[in-house]
This record gives sequence, structure tokens and C-alpha cells, in this order.
Amino acid sequence: MTMTFELLVLRLVHILGGIFWVGSVLFTTVILVPALAASGANVGLVMSAVQNRRYLTFLPAVAVTTILSGLRLLWINSAGFSPGYFHSPQGLAFSLAGTAATIAFLSAMLIVRPSAARSAALGQTVGNAPDDQRSRLARELAALRRRHAMASAVTLTLLVMGAGGMAVARYLP
Ligand code: HEM
Repeated sequence: MTMTFELLVLRLVHILGGIFWVGSVLFTTVILVPALAASGANVGLVMSAVQNRRYLTFLPAVAVTTILSGLRLLWINSAGFSPGYFHSPQGLAFSLAGTAATIAFLSAMLIVRPSAARSAALGQTVGNAPDDQRSRLARELAALRRRHAMASAVTLTLLVMGAGGMAVARYLP
């Protein structure tokens, strides 16, 4: 009974957290930021209003909760990480999908976020920079934006692969 209760709570937390995490990242990356940029809105201003609602604090907290509840579920399913489980198609799929989602989280925190913050700061500086520094700063900014776009695309792909793996793992032959 208590085990069933723990599983129910873990699954609720894990699946609702995962939905919020992947859904928010997809919406922000694929819809919100490009739509703001195309509309001529001040993306930085809008994003700082978004952050005033603690989005960039809440989202990683939800992601960490999803990862931790996933690890506990993996621990339970594999009877304490016994190797046999990871050789079954189901065990392999849950753990690979979990790894993809965890790498996505690390890449978002270590590459995507810092490069976005540095681009925003550098974007301000370039406008006010003296002529002799402007082209160097503009090149730096372009490189940062490429790095950000690339890391964003990789992160999103890993997240969707993680969520997709979670969706099918249990039913693999
Ligand atoms: C992108 C983030 C994630 C999403 C959207 C997600 C979603 C899901 C969903 C929908 C299920 C239910 C599948 C089913 O019952 O057939 C599930 C189960 C599971 N997830 Fe995740 N998950 C994510 C991340 C993780 C991570 C990071 C781990 C581990 C480190 C993990 C480990 C597991 C395990 C072990 C189960 C099986 C639970 C059970 O047997 O009841 N998940 N996940």
C-alpha cells in the first residue's frame, strides 16, 4: 500500500513536471522568442518581465524535480539499479531517455542560458561602443548567437527524444 502510494505520487510529480518542462521549453524556443523578434518587440524587455514572474527559477526547479523523481522511479523499477534491468529493452529505453533529458538540462544551464545572457549584455555594449571596437564586438556577438542557436537546437532535440523515449519505453517488444 505505501509502495503503491509512493509510486502514484512519484508518477504524478514526474509526469506533470516533465510535461511542464518540455512544453515550456518548446513554446519558448519555437514560438515565443521568434514571434517577439519578428514583431519588432524588445525581446530583452519582454524576457525580463517573464523573469520577473520567476520563470527562469521555476523551470529549472521543475526540471530537477522531474530528474530526481525519475531517478527514484528508475531505482524502484530496477530493484536498486541491478544490471539485468538495463539489458531489457524497457530498462534501456527508460535510462537512455532519462540520460538524454538530463544532458539537455545540463546543456541548457551551462551553455544556452549563459550564452543568451552574454548576448543580451553584449548587444547593449555594441550599440554604445567606440567605432574602433564596434566591429570586433559585433563579430563576438555573432559568434555567441551562433553558439546559442546551436546549443538551443541540440537541447530541444535531446528533450524531445527524452520525452519520446519515456512515452514508448514501457511498450517496447
Ligand atoms: C524530458 C523529461 C521527461 C519526461 C517528459 C518524462 C516523462 C515520463 C512519462 C510520461 C512517463 C510514464 C511512462 C509510462 O508509464 O509508460 C515516465 C516514466 C518514467 N520516467 Fe520519465 N520523463 C522525463 C525525464 C526522466 C528522467 C530524467 C528520468 C531518469 C533519470 C526518468 C525516468 C523515468 C522512469 C524510470 C519511468 C518509469 C516509471 C514507472 O515505471 O512508473 N524520466 N516519464
